[in-house]
Amino acid sequence: MSVDWRERYQTGETPWEKGKPHPELPFLLSEHRGLVVEAENILVPGCGFGHDANLISSVAKGQVFGLDVADEAIGQAKERYSGEQRSWVVGDLFESEGNYDLVFEHTFFCAIPVERRSDYVATMARLIPQGGHLLALFFLNPDHKGEEGPPFGVTVDELKGFFGGAFEMIWSQPPSKTFEAREGDGRELSILWRRLGD
Ligand SMILES: C[S@@+](CC[C@H](N)C(=O)[O-])C[C@H]1O[C@@H](n2cnc3c(N)ncnc32)[C@H](O)[C@@H]1O
Repeated sequence: MSVDWRERYQTGETPWEKGKPHPELPFLLSEHRGLVVEAENILVPGCGFGHDANLISSVAKGQVFGLDVADEAIGQAKERYSGEQRSWVVGDLFESEGNYDLVFEHTFFCAIPVERRSDYVATMARLIPQGGHLLALFFLNPDHKGEEGPPFGVTVDELKGFFGGAFEMIWSQPPSKTFEAREGDGRELSILWRRLGD
């Protein structure tokens, strides 16, 4: 069943919304600072209220684009985080155009229907030029159990299968910090993918 994201924001049924950036993001920004600082355009798809995109913009020198299909979410992001370096955009990632040296996300891949995962990788391959990067915190499903998401977990082998042709995994690490509700379940993994040539 697909989720009506606008309705979820309208009714306040948003358990993912924690009121702050992912607790691992400061580490990721310091570990990969060079990529963040050098990127001209950074995309944060499914940005919700914009906490991650806002923190990224405090390190970035280029423009940070927070994108979400729900205008309610973008409205909140605009209200909370204004500033020249941040662009808040209502739109569907799969129909987006542009060129981004760096994409960051932490709750998008797990939120989309599993049958859209190939589309997701094709979209990333279209938006990220050769040598660009996708930095993401994935939600794992190591036991490969059926689950009624979202969120929908994924195995590392499945990820390698989806991303393999267009991206190489150049770094990965389980986060040492996460939100309280996710502590101890060991289901998140940070991965840095580099876009290969076609
Ligand atoms: C699970 S929520 C996570 C929001 C935010 N990243 C956070 O962690 O607070 C998934 C977000 O992706 C957005 N979304 C879902 N499908 C989308 C699409 N095709 N294009 C852009 N945004 C989308 C939803 O509106 C929602 O804000």
